Amino acid sequence: MPKIFRASIMHTPQSPFAGGLLASYEDGALVIKNDEIIDLDDYAKIATKYPNAKTHSFKNSFILPGLIDTHVHYPQIPVIGAMGLRLLDWLEQRTLPAEAKLADRKIAKKQAKIFLKQLARNGTTTALVFGAHFATAMEEFFIQADKSKLRITAGLVLGDRLLHPDLYTSPQKAYSESKALIEKWHNKNRLRYAVTPRFSVSCSDEILAVCGKLLAEYPDLYFTTHINEQIEEIKLVKEQFGAPDYLETYEKHNLINERSILAHNVHPSDSELSRIARANAAVAHCPSSNMFIGSGLFNMLKHLEHRVKFGLGSDVGGGTGFSIFKEGLNSYQVQMLQKNQLDLGSSHLLYLASLAGAEALGLDTTVGSFEIGKKADFIVLKPQAKSTLAINLKYSSSAEDSLASIFTLARADAIKDVFVSGESVL
Ligand code: GUN
Ligand code: FE
Repeated sequence: MPKIFRASIMHTPQSPFAGGLLASYEDGALVIKNDEIIDLDDYAKIATKYPNAKTHSFKNSFILPGLIDTHVHYPQIPVIGAMGLRLLDWLEQRTLPAEAKLADRKIAKKQAKIFLKQLARNGTTTALVFGAHFATAMEEFFIQADKSKLRITAGLVLGDRLLHPDLYTSPQKAYSESKALIEKWHNKNRLRYAVTPRFSVSCSDEILAVCGKLLAEYPDLYFTTHINEQIEEIKLVKEQFGAPDYLETYEKHNLINERSILAHNVHPSDSELSRIARANAAVAHCPSSNMFIGSGLFNMLKHLEHRVKFGLGSDVGGGTGFSIFKEGLNSYQVQMLQKNQLDLGSSHLLYLASLAGAEALGLDTTVGSFEIGKKADFIVLKPQAKSTLAINLKYSSSAEDSLASIFTLARADAIKDVFVSGESVL
């Protein structure tokens, strides 16, 4: 028996960067059978078409696709808001000591549970999660991620130099621990595995070679890491490897392909952008983090010109929270601050927060919009009475306006329910 979800509904079936328009239904109905979307239209039409379906009506509410976070760190809730430090000092003084605490499996379990709940409460249904440096912490994370029912891709973080000493691995250990986690968790239910060297700064060629070996052995694995985040970091990588650019340190080990997601890319060369595009790899744009730790202004126009795919990442804890709405707003503001600014509207932000993320993560035939046959991942948004959002929406004169209000003002307190494959996960 199909189920009808009635509210004001919006999604972006095609990229607004390629001329796609916002699809909106002021009094809309999303029809779900089992875990899939089978129809979407105005409620009046749906009501006559499916007279026997059970209807869930949400008054003064919006239904949007589940939000997609393409870069977020599981161990880093404790470091959100660690002020006054740029990347390399922020890592050394605040972040790596916090990550070392996950050696204790009990702490890892507790943080995994809290972290996954925070994703759901913020409306994120799909995430590429940067893991922890300990295999036990990742085992616990995958157990909890499986229970959460969210769509999670994650992996053991690898590094063997310039880290907190407790976080070091060796090539042999990196290989055997990763392999055991891959065998157990990759493609289990909604989980997938991503090979995850922390960044070239903290990886020897031997560790990166292990990453390449794993990708060659399991060709459908994902790959994620950091790239081109801060000027000092880029300089260090070029010196360490004697490399012409940052990307080359990954390319050398065959790590860049259509399942690779590179976080930040704030300072890429044109050559790197061309090579990322040629490999059909994706970038995770993390605007709140890029501002908070002082990385710089992401050049969205250049990524579009080079046809590099990108989605949004909260990058908790360099980022300032889990809200992908806030990342959308921040991405808008970052474009407004640049000379060659793009003319972004709310439909672009919705696309970046949903379908673009799905494209970056290779999940766009499964989720990211409300096309018939996709899985029913969606959020129900209801502004709190008397909130600025509720008041502001009363003045809205179009769907685009309402959506702009949502990106500007809606946060976790406006998210009433969150569905993955048609089932509530809150
Ligand atoms: N580069 C290496 N590790 C990290 C991290 O934890 N956060 C960010 N933003 N960049 C990194
Ligand atoms: Fe990060």
